[in-house]
Amino acid sequence: MHEDRTRWNKKYTDREWTAEPSDIVRRFYSLAKPGMALDIGAGTGRNSVFLAEQGFDVVAVDIAEKGLAQMAGAHANLLPVCADLDVFEIPENRFSLIANILFLNRRLFPWIMDGLAPGGVLIFETYIDFPSGRGHRRSRDFCLAENELLYAFAPLHILYYEETQKTTDEGTSRLASLAAVKK
Ligand SMILES: C[S@@+](CC[C@H](N)C(=O)[O-])C[C@H]1O[C@@H](n2cnc3c(N)ncnc32)[C@H](O)[C@@H]1O
Repeated sequence: MHEDRTRWNKKYTDREWTAEPSDIVRRFYSLAKPGMALDIGAGTGRNSVFLAEQGFDVVAVDIAEKGLAQMAGAHANLLPVCADLDVFEIPENRFSLIANILFLNRRLFPWIMDGLAPGGVLIFETYIDFPSGRGHRRSRDFCLAENELLYAFAPLHILYYEETQKTTDEGTSRLASLAAVKK
């Protein structure tokens, strides 16, 4: 969506973002067989670059070209794709691993399940409540309900699911975290 592109391009111009991959990606990526990985809402590519370094051929999709530009050329096995995930179509049975970190688009849930190859691993983590410092803590469009992720991906074999509270400089937030395998 055009608004998302403008908003996120500004964020990627205004401040520097961490290059450290998410803990949950580090923790579960090795369950996936070598092959193609899809990073949904990839940002500046902290998880995409990490996965490429682990030997995956990574497709990193995001709408904000300023974020994608920061990962461009970081690794030969990394393909940044500028696309709107409101309309993006994930190819079926293609990916050994799909990562969806700090991004929510419920339309993609069935596409994600279909996009995993048999034995493919999904690593998904995003907010139930935004950090308290951001003022507006919940919006159904951007935040999950409790247990929502667990039920949404119940057709997969769930390896790990947790809802946790986290306090950072931005305040306290709640996150839902899931790792699952397509049988
Ligand atoms: C909080 S960031 C997360 C980035 C990355 N997953 C990470 O953990 O560092 C959310 C990302 O979603 C992207 N995004 C938001 N709406 C989008 C849309 N409609 N299509 C594609 N990307 C979108 C933003 O540009 C932003 O990079």
